[in-house]
Amino acid sequence: MAQERAEASTAANSNHHSSEPASDELHLLFSPLPGVTALLASSFTHRETSSVMAEEFQPFPHFGTQAIHAGNEPEKWTSGAVVPPISLSTTFKQTAPGEYPGGYDYSRSGNPTREVLETALANLENGRYALTYASGLAAMMNIVSLLQAGDEIISMNDMYGGSNRFFRHVASRNGLKIHLVDMTDLNRIHALLNDKTRLLWVETPTNPTLRVVDIEAVCKAAKEFKEEIIVAVDNTFMSSYFQRPLDLGADISHHSLTKYMNGHSDVVMGAAVMSNEGLYKRLKFLQNAIGAVPSPFDCFLVNRGLKTLHLRMREHMKNGLTVAKYLEEHPALVERVIHPGLRSHPQYELCKKQCRGYSGMVTFFIKGGLEEAKVFLQTIKVFTLAESLGGYESLAEHPAIMTHASVPAEEREMLGISDNLIRLSVGLEDVDDLIADLDNALRTAVFKKPNQLQNGGLSFGLSTIVT
Ligand SMILES: Cc1ncc(COP(=O)(O)O)c(C=O)c1O
Repeated sequence: MAQERAEASTAANSNHHSSEPASDELHLLFSPLPGVTALLASSFTHRETSSVMAEEFQPFPHFGTQAIHAGNEPEKWTSGAVVPPISLSTTFKQTAPGEYPGGYDYSRSGNPTREVLETALANLENGRYALTYASGLAAMMNIVSLLQAGDEIISMNDMYGGSNRFFRHVASRNGLKIHLVDMTDLNRIHALLNDKTRLLWVETPTNPTLRVVDIEAVCKAAKEFKEEIIVAVDNTFMSSYFQRPLDLGADISHHSLTKYMNGHSDVVMGAAVMSNEGLYKRLKFLQNAIGAVPSPFDCFLVNRGLKTLHLRMREHMKNGLTVAKYLEEHPALVERVIHPGLRSHPQYELCKKQCRGYSGMVTFFIKGGLEEAKVFLQTIKVFTLAESLGGYESLAEHPAIMTHASVPAEEREMLGISDNLIRLSVGLEDVDDLIADLDNALRTAVFKKPNQLQNGGLSFGLSTIVT
């Protein structure tokens, strides 16, 4: 049927000499469900100058090929399995006491499925070694365990609430001194560096206010002061596809693999990637000694998630930028939007230089206060009100009440994590449906009535999938 239509339309158009249908005809053949796009066109026109274009970025060379093949060689297994097996055995046969030719003795110390994932991760970050952990915070705890009482850490003041809580309530109780500062201001780092400084912990872009730290400049400041200072960058918000901290001078790229790297919201896991052998050996020792390792089954899932990382991230970028532009172009509904790809972002140029694109993270301040934020979050239908980020599904959350509740109120205020701040993790749904959902929820929250047009659009397309 589709082929008949294509042939008919091709024949009817004498300007086309090839047997391929013309691009507008293709659009007709493969266009999405009608309605929402047309409805939106009347209310939402992009001003192309307000943001970067997704096409301006080049990915790291060979990324997709590495994501699919690195560490996944079928020759590894006697069966030749193309998809790496899940090795559940906790223990491995030894040929003599202390001799294990396969390279594994006990699964906490090393596991074949985990090794597949760790090899893949090292490749994607352009590093030599990777270690994985039971969560992003477990990875952080292992890195901080390189230090001893009396050592000092300088860290970004705006970061994931759980990382903030770990520094404040765990690391500091073990005799470490933590300085939380705005790392976008290099002068503050210079002022704090001293003989006891052992670790700089950078999160960029930050969670939730998406401040961007100059990784190269921070590494230079640290290394010029003392080469041994370790610089670790939490790369969770960008993923390996858009940002490679090791290339910019960092010692460790840290991930909550729970987010984009796995991408399917069904695993909690963390990683540390590095190139320095001495650092790797110390962290490998701690991985085994502390024991916060992931399960082989979860390693299998994250490894599977990596196969589509490049495809997912490109779509997250496009959808995220479209949502950010929509929000910025509706000042009656939205007070301010934060996205590093918007020209209005203070580190717009830096991010363009440092990264190869943007993920789907968008933060905005709804017009009004807590009441409007709550109504918005209870009205969204395609977006789900939930913590976390980086999965294929779109999520929205209220940092002050949810992910950043553990950050003291006065600090939240100083960072701008106010009651009308909402964080979006823009997923991979059709972007028109996402915009329609946001538009409806914003109008309901701010104007106290839904937009009839958008609501109509939503009900026809999504009634079957939204319960
Ligand atoms: C930026 C960032 N780093 C670290 C973490 C902690 O990771 P996990 O939840 O896997 O322990 C999170 C969790 O949300 C995060 O957003």
